[in-house]
Amino acid sequence: MTTLLINIKELIQVREATITKVSGADMKVLPTIKNAFLLIENDTIVDYGSMDNVPTLIENTIDCTGKMILPTWCDSHTHIVYAGNREQEFVDRINGLSYEEIANKGGGILNSAKKLQETSEEELYKQSAVRLEEVMKLGTGAVEIKSGYGLTVEAELKMLRVIKKLRENYKLPIKATFLGAHAFPTEYKSNKEGYINLIIEEMLPKVAEENLAEFIDAFCETGYFSVEDTNRILEAGKKYGLTPKVHVNQFTTIGGVQVSVKHNALSVDHLEVMNKEDIETLKGTNTMPVALPSCSYFLSIPYTPARDIINAGLPLALATDFNPGSTPSGNMNFVVATACIKMKMTPEEAINAATINGAYAMNLSDEVGSITKGKKANFIITKEILSYGAIPYNFGSVLIDSVFINGKAI
Ligand code: NIG
Ligand code: FE
Repeated sequence: MTTLLINIKELIQVREATITKVSGADMKVLPTIKNAFLLIENDTIVDYGSMDNVPTLIENTIDCTGKMILPTWCDSHTHIVYAGNREQEFVDRINGLSYEEIANKGGGILNSAKKLQETSEEELYKQSAVRLEEVMKLGTGAVEIKSGYGLTVEAELKMLRVIKKLRENYKLPIKATFLGAHAFPTEYKSNKEGYINLIIEEMLPKVAEENLAEFIDAFCETGYFSVEDTNRILEAGKKYGLTPKVHVNQFTTIGGVQVSVKHNALSVDHLEVMNKEDIETLKGTNTMPVALPSCSYFLSIPYTPARDIINAGLPLALATDFNPGSTPSGNMNFVVATACIKMKMTPEEAINAATINGAYAMNLSDEVGSITKGKKANFIITKEILSYGAIPYNFGSVLIDSVFINGKAI
């Protein structure tokens, strides 16, 4: 079926297929066409341009007068598959406990792992599907999802099978990341080596055998996985063809960026705490820095120094980190607004970071992230707005009229 969208006030993020990411000063440029048309055939973008050259005689036409179109958000870092919630810890933090103190008391990731281990695969799927549907309505059209709340062979596989089932049942691209190295289970607290061996010798072969993940991750952080642990895990993942995407520099800078770059990571994520050497290390690499401002907001921790990163000529992507502990929100509109308000990114930089650079950080540059001929017809039609700057400016509002995934309104 052919559909023609006409009278688009502004068609945003129009790119040639050769552009897969934008860096440094280029991030301030957001290519658009005013008074535009967009032509889609089944699930694919086939043409676009000025209304002066609009094709005629198309059976299915949608009038977008006053509205803008931009590619759907590319959320390259989530933990959408989890069981229950951690509302009690939220209240504990309001009452004065820190995230670290809660984790040290057996809360945090271990609390979520206990809940997930006790939840059936069917129930876990149901809870996760609700979240996925919610974020799709908020404009997310491609998403990465991690394991890491299982922490046993069975429960990690259960999480990854749920991700696989989401991919089968929903039309947006979904990428899976194996994050067995998220926290040390209580029974391994004094036998860390034993848990790393379990990841490498038992979990990884099964994940690979069932083809359940494309990426491998580790929480490289003081009190979690050391640089040496991370090195072993990424090395082992590589033997099974898994590409690293790594949690680094959330609370401390211990060399996580360096070990990730050494393994040619696709992305390094969090980066709330960055020193000069970390930024230097990223220069000239293929590794995408990923910031998660909703996590900084929710935990009241520093924001990723976006200006330092971009001014160093590097690219930057934005993602939600949707998870029950540090970021119980999957709203990319809020992420874009918060990046502008708190990280001093311009609307153009934030939209680039949340679309084309997000697609890069999931290895999805061929499919999504821009309005490009041959890419998937995954896009947002906005409400009637004066400029795309309204998206971050009117923070907390959702300025979405409709969301198209694979050429169909959801
Ligand atoms: O990305 N930092 C590690 N993992 C998650 C949060 C884990 C949790 O508290 O459940 C994150 O923020
Ligand atoms: Fe995370």
